[in-house]
Amino acid sequence: MKNYKKTHSCGALGMKDEGRRVTLMGWVHRIRDLGGVIFVDLRDREGITQVVFNPEKDGELSRRAKGLGGEDVIAVVGSVQPRPGGMANPQMATGEIEVIADDLYVISKAKTPPFVIEDGVKATEELRLKYRYLDLRRPEMQRIFRLRHRLYQSTRRFFDEKGFLEIETPFLMKSTPEGARDYLVPSRVHRGRFYALPQSPQLYKQLLMVAGFEKYFQIVKCFRDEDLRADRQPEFTQLDVEMSFVDEEDIFDLIERYIERVFREVLNIEIERPFRRLPYRESLLTYGTDKPDLRFGMEIRALTDLDCWKSFEIFRRIVAGGGEVCGLRVDGGAGASRKQVERWEEIVKEGGIGGLIPVRITREGVTSPIKKHIGDGGITKIIERFQGKIGDLILVLAGEGEGLFSAAGGLRLRLAQHLNLIDPTKFILAWIIDYPLLTYDNGAKKFVPVHHPFTAPVEEDIHKLGTSPGEVRARAYDLVLNGQEIAGGSIRLHDRKIQEKIFRVLGIPQGEAKSKFGFLLDALQYGAPPHGGIAFGFDRLAMIMAGKTSIREVIAFPKTTAALSLMDEAPDRVSPAQLKDLGLTIKKKNIT
Ligand code: AMO
Repeated sequence: MKNYKKTHSCGALGMKDEGRRVTLMGWVHRIRDLGGVIFVDLRDREGITQVVFNPEKDGELSRRAKGLGGEDVIAVVGSVQPRPGGMANPQMATGEIEVIADDLYVISKAKTPPFVIEDGVKATEELRLKYRYLDLRRPEMQRIFRLRHRLYQSTRRFFDEKGFLEIETPFLMKSTPEGARDYLVPSRVHRGRFYALPQSPQLYKQLLMVAGFEKYFQIVKCFRDEDLRADRQPEFTQLDVEMSFVDEEDIFDLIERYIERVFREVLNIEIERPFRRLPYRESLLTYGTDKPDLRFGMEIRALTDLDCWKSFEIFRRIVAGGGEVCGLRVDGGAGASRKQVERWEEIVKEGGIGGLIPVRITREGVTSPIKKHIGDGGITKIIERFQGKIGDLILVLAGEGEGLFSAAGGLRLRLAQHLNLIDPTKFILAWIIDYPLLTYDNGAKKFVPVHHPFTAPVEEDIHKLGTSPGEVRARAYDLVLNGQEIAGGSIRLHDRKIQEKIFRVLGIPQGEAKSKFGFLLDALQYGAPPHGGIAFGFDRLAMIMAGKTSIREVIAFPKTTAALSLMDEAPDRVSPAQLKDLGLTIKKKNIT
């Protein structure tokens, strides 16, 4: 290669550069032959510049340009000229100029890519992931990773300004149960022993508080071997934060300012503060979930207390058996077809609910299949509860308490999507508060933490730990944004005795608590400050900010929902020698 040096990016040149000799380097985005004149759109991460090869000026050069293929990497030397009259393209940053080439060097020939490198690509996600390095070349992906970059930088500036220290914590740690399954790493030096990859730096950040750092943050990878979905990856990134001598209000204030800052700096959007605070129970009853999408209303209302169910046998039986009745109001939905209502009914049936009963309020009167059972009086009560008006549709459903509200919540979301009630330009945040500390796991027949075992209980509930653990409230909180849980945290236990008590209530025997968490319990004896913190799902935050619906879109090299990396084919088998080093053998029947 001649001694070329790239002088400008493909997004930099404009009329101000007229007559300038430049050297551009990049990828052949598109090539057109217009009656012998060859136009090459040259692309790099900054944009696209039109390069012109004119056979009348240099026949040999134009012939070589004609032989270029899409995605070839080339260097072009030429001079910047205004595009001839009427040819300017106002859609392009460089649309007023073109580069008239007088030299061309092919740096690297490209095979025909398996899909076209452009926005709105039609390729399947599998193909995009297999050739992720090509997928990432697409301008849309480059925009996402710039956004993510700005989010990292804005985050670091904010926490630095607020006096936080960025401290790294180990990836090879002791296996300490935190909710999900651990990824394990066998030790070669200590055969038969395993490191675990951290599900989060929870214990380390607490130890950093015992160590006196007071304010810590880290942008850190976490690893969880759990069932994957659009919002979950086996390795994902957290923005992890911990502070000493604080209460919930300090953390809420800091985090609201953080969110305000990053939305302003990264998206130029003003976020409304303070964020709404929604008690966990209220969220479940009103939205059917503890991560409600608050960009639209359509709240669920309970109807169990209405006495009209006495005369509707199916519901009478459900209520008598401890079940509940609730409903949703669809504004202006009275005209929905019977087929449509049946389709919505399918959604609640998937959630194990028997059916969905429409109450249509029309100018001609109210129609509903339950009218004949509960009479005008019953119908009026339902309409009053919803403040229904002419043109509205009320959908009523009944079933077991928690499942019922969660099915209604699922329906609420699907209705909003179907009826276009969600404004994609809105960002609505809320704190979910007043979580219970523990919940009873019917399968395991014991109490398990709602967050994690290091969460502090509300002080005046501590005495209930021995008698009614399910009623103890936690000093925990989640942050939700547009229907996604983007962060969670709590004030921690810094008193060894209460921490030990919690382990007992969780059914962790003293010996096991000592062997699993002994280092934490020890540390709490040497002067532990009160402390608390929070961790963001950084990918989820980036995903919402980028307007995407899957975190795979904002992770450079993500795994599939089957935890596979299609590009490098991980996980993979390893050689017998590697296994031998580790003292491991794998039984034939266990090889997949
Ligand atoms: P938690 O388990 O709630 O808390 O995790 C914090 C946030 O991380 C995100 N998240 C995930 N994102 C992508 N893929 C996953 N598999 C995944 N799992 C969780 C969520 C979640 O809100 N140590 C505590 C935090 C604390 O108490 O300070 C913790 O990890 O957005």
